[in-house]
Amino acid sequence: MATSSATLRIGVVGYGHLGQYLVGKILKDGPAQGLILAFVWNRNSDKLKGLVPAELILEDLSSFADRRCDVIVEVCHPQIVKKFGHLFLSQSHFMVGSPSALSDPDLNQKLRQASLQYRRTLYVPSGALWGGQDIQRMNDSGTIKALFIRMSKHPSCFRLTGDVLTDWTEGEGRRVLFGGSVAELCPLAPNNVNTMAAAAVAAGSLGFKGVQGEIVSDTALKDYHVVEVEVTGPDGFSVHTVRRNPAKLGAVTGSATYNSFWNSLLVCKGHGGRVYLC
Ligand SMILES: NC(=O)c1ccc[n+]([C@@H]2O[C@H](COP(=O)([O-])OP(=O)(O)OC[C@H]3O[C@@H](n4cnc5c(N)ncnc54)[C@H](O)[C@@H]3O)[C@@H](O)[C@H]2O)c1
Repeated sequence: MATSSATLRIGVVGYGHLGQYLVGKILKDGPAQGLILAFVWNRNSDKLKGLVPAELILEDLSSFADRRCDVIVEVCHPQIVKKFGHLFLSQSHFMVGSPSALSDPDLNQKLRQASLQYRRTLYVPSGALWGGQDIQRMNDSGTIKALFIRMSKHPSCFRLTGDVLTDWTEGEGRRVLFGGSVAELCPLAPNNVNTMAAAAVAAGSLGFKGVQGEIVSDTALKDYHVVEVEVTGPDGFSVHTVRRNPAKLGAVTGSATYNSFWNSLLVCKGHGGRVYLC
C-alpha cells in the first residue's frame, strides 16, 4: 500500500511484552502521531480478547494482506520473520523486532532482495544500541574497522538455548557466557542479542561474521542491563560507550528499550527499497 496518506496503518505481529506496549501506545497516542492500528495477531488469539477491539484481532496471519497495512511490526519470534518476512515486504514496509533472525545469511539475503524488488523498507530498530546512526555513517563512508559489543545482565534476564546457565547462584558475580562473532551468538541467545544484530546491520560491511560480541552474566546487575559498544576506525580512532538500561530482575528487555521501539516506529514512513536502522 502507498505511504503517501497522512495516516499510516500499522499491523502488530506478536502480543508479548513489546506487542502489548506498542498496541497500547498506538491506540492511545497513535492518531496524534499519524498512526492507526490495522490489526494485532498473536499465535493464541484468546490472549487478545477483551484487550484489543474485536475488529482489530487477526485470527489467521496468512490473511494479513486483507488489512492493507503501511507498516507491519514483528515483535514475536525469529521464526515468524523467516516464514512471513518476505510476504510482509511484498505488501508493506516491515519493522523486524527480532533482527537476530537476520544472522541467517539466506534469510538476510532474501529479505534484502525483497525490499529492493518491492521498493519497501526493511526497518531494524536500534533497541538498546547507542550510536547506531554514527556506526551506520562510518560504515557508509568505509571507515569502520572493527565493532565489539558486550551485553551484561543478571542471570535471570538471559534466555539461552542449551543448558549453559542452569546452575547460577545468587551472589556468584560475573561470568563470561559466550564470546565470538554475532553470527555465532545469535543462535545461542536469540532473545538477548537483538542489539548486537542491529549493530551488525548498521555495520553492514563487517556484517554478522565481522562484528564481535560477548554476553556476560553478573549477579550484581539487579537493576539494569549494561550494553558496551567499542567502535574502531582508522588512525587510532575509537569510541567506547557504556549504556545502563534500567531493567527489572528477570526482564529480558530493559525499560528504555520500549520507548526506543516506539521512537523507531515513528521513523517508519518509507525509505525506499533498502534496509534502514531506525
Ligand atoms: N530489537 C530489540 O532490541 C529487541 C528487544 C527486545 C526484544 N526483542 C525481540 O522481540 C521479540 C518480542 O519480544 P518480547 O519481549 O515482546 O517477547 P515476549 O516473550 O514477551 O513475547 C513474545 C510473543 O510472541 C509469541 N511467540 C513466541 N514464540 C513464537 C513463535 N514461534 N511463533 C509465534 N509466536 C510466538 C509469544 O506467545 C508472545 O506472545 C522477541 O523475538 C525478542 O527477542 C528485540
